[in-house]
Amino acid sequence: MPTNPQTPDTSFLPDYLTDEQRNIITAGYEHSVITAVAGSGKTSTLAWRIRYLLAQGHDPNRMLVLMFNRSARVDFERKLQQVCDQSGLAPPEIRTYHAMGYRLYKRFVREGYLPNFSDKILTEQEIGYQAWMLTRRLAPEDLADEIRRNKKDYVETATGFIDLVKTCLSPAEIVFEELGYSDKHKYLIDLFHSFEQWRKSQARISYADMIYEPVMAIHQNPPLQRLVGNKMDLILVDEYQDTNEIQHLLLRYVAGDRARVTVVGDPDQTIYEFRGAKPEFILRRFSDEFESPLEQTLSFTFRYGHQVALLANHLITHNTGRKDVLCHSHPSTAATRAELHRADNDGDEVLKILQSYNSEENNQTAVLFRVWSQSVPIELKLLARQIPYRIDAGKGALFSREVQAITALLMVVS
Ligand SMILES: Nc1ncnc2c1ncn2[C@@H]1O[C@H](COP(=O)(O)OP(=O)(O)OP(=O)(O)O)[C@@H](O)[C@H]1O
Ligand SMILES: [Mg+2]
Repeated sequence: MPTNPQTPDTSFLPDYLTDEQRNIITAGYEHSVITAVAGSGKTSTLAWRIRYLLAQGHDPNRMLVLMFNRSARVDFERKLQQVCDQSGLAPPEIRTYHAMGYRLYKRFVREGYLPNFSDKILTEQEIGYQAWMLTRRLAPEDLADEIRRNKKDYVETATGFIDLVKTCLSPAEIVFEELGYSDKHKYLIDLFHSFEQWRKSQARISYADMIYEPVMAIHQNPPLQRLVGNKMDLILVDEYQDTNEIQHLLLRYVAGDRARVTVVGDPDQTIYEFRGAKPEFILRRFSDEFESPLEQTLSFTFRYGHQVALLANHLITHNTGRKDVLCHSHPSTAATRAELHRADNDGDEVLKILQSYNSEENNQTAVLFRVWSQSVPIELKLLARQIPYRIDAGKGALFSREVQAITALLMVVS
């Protein structure tokens, strides 16, 4: 509990923090929902908030910090360590939703609420293989040809559906209706049930089950609600815009009536919709279900200058289901210039621009594209001109299936 709530010490807070950031860091002890734009220091502000709460005497063992995935968790641990450096304060544990779900799952097995399962988590390949076998068995005969020709698509549709059902409490039948799948995919409902039957017969679980199974168990067993709830004083969640229903419920059950919950996110950055994430959780559901939270914003970005912020604002107003937060570039941020080049051929245009730069400028240039196929003409042009480049993920055009097929053919011919 706070040692001296009247005059909290804030001398350790760095001067560069903005007023908005300071207000969030030093806010009172209540639920709070923070809507913030990209690169506005959400994660850093959360770290300083934790340091502030620790300095106020809050027990780190009764603090839970939730992150979306392992890399976010590792980054945040590092950030928090820097922020707490030399303060002598022990930081709280940072967990991912999956790790928290998994821990509860194991506990529910020990308590006899759920059957035991193998530690060997189902791989994507294993799930894909089952989905393929079941698609072949359960899809209507008149789709057989199409399915054989588009194996990858059909496997993805099936595995995607299985995962989506596990992002909420609704049964497969309802999820199918709600997501507006076409009639020809009706077999997916049977496929889901058959997949689950197979999975349970093998005592195996997927990553989705790490959260789905324990939340379902809590939902159906009031004693489990008492077992998991009200153990924490404070819960802080980053990237809340990517929450799906099952994660939101897990948060609610763990919070109970006791924990004060802070969620931070940017509804305009909801990128996990294919995993059931919806901006409505940060826009409405949180405020509906966690009593009258403090509403705060971070509206200055440190990631880009005014022109880019303006462009982003213009574009993002086309989104539906958002909060009307305008992204400003912070005055300390270097100016960025945006130029529009209209061209029929991306490769030629990119090459022209890169050739106008010296090698030092090229070293500091990134080329972004929406899908990998767009990189092929650009890479081929760069290769032909011997302009060095690095691919961030994947192997690049030369290793794409299409180019490899042609190379193989040429080798045979030669
Ligand atoms: N008050 C500040 N003054 C200067 N730089 C800042 C300030 N606050 C944050 N930054 C810097 O802005 C950058 C973005 O910070 P951070 O990653 O915390 O933002 P974020 O809102 O979590 O971003 P994202 O939208 O990607 O999740 C970092 O380099 C951080 O050090
Ligand atoms: Mg962040």
